[in-house]
Amino acid sequence: MERTVVLVKPDGVQRGLIGDIISRFERKGLHLIGLKMISLWDALLDEWYAHHKEKPFFAGLKQFMMSAPVVAMVWQGPTSAAVIRKMVGPTRASEAETGTIRGDFALSTQYNIIHASETGDIAKKEIELMFRPEELFDWDKTDLSHIVASEEK
Ligand code: CMP
Repeated sequence: MERTVVLVKPDGVQRGLIGDIISRFERKGLHLIGLKMISLWDALLDEWYAHHKEKPFFAGLKQFMMSAPVVAMVWQGPTSAAVIRKMVGPTRASEAETGTIRGDFALSTQYNIIHASETGDIAKKEIELMFRPEELFDWDKTDLSHIVASEEK
């Protein structure tokens, strides 16, 4: 089982899309392990987006990510990073397929509503940056036996 971090970015929060986004992952059968609203800060975003540090959009991206709180979540499931990235669609929302979150709700590259970890390994680092251990819940989701076969766990 793999964990993935999702952020509903400030544009998604401002536009009232938190519920729609959570609902899609719940209906898919993913397991919600952590959920909180949080205002991000400059030093955290320097680490979070370290791989974009040299990009021309870096300063604007950080400003945007601090313009309102985000809703941070951890979702668990088999190959959850790849599954969630497929549900989210590509960074350039204008190119995202209808049926994906970005394809249905966004048009922009910066204002693309949602962040999702690229891989399970990157998610581990993002969980450490975004959540304290006591904010994660290893609860027994009783309908999992109807969603994931035991050999897929
Ligand atoms: P994401 O792919 O989740 O993480 C990096 C973010 O940087 C990306 O979403 C966008 O919000 C933003 N971003 C990426 N490319 C550009 C760009 N060319 N111009 C502005 N923002 C960008």
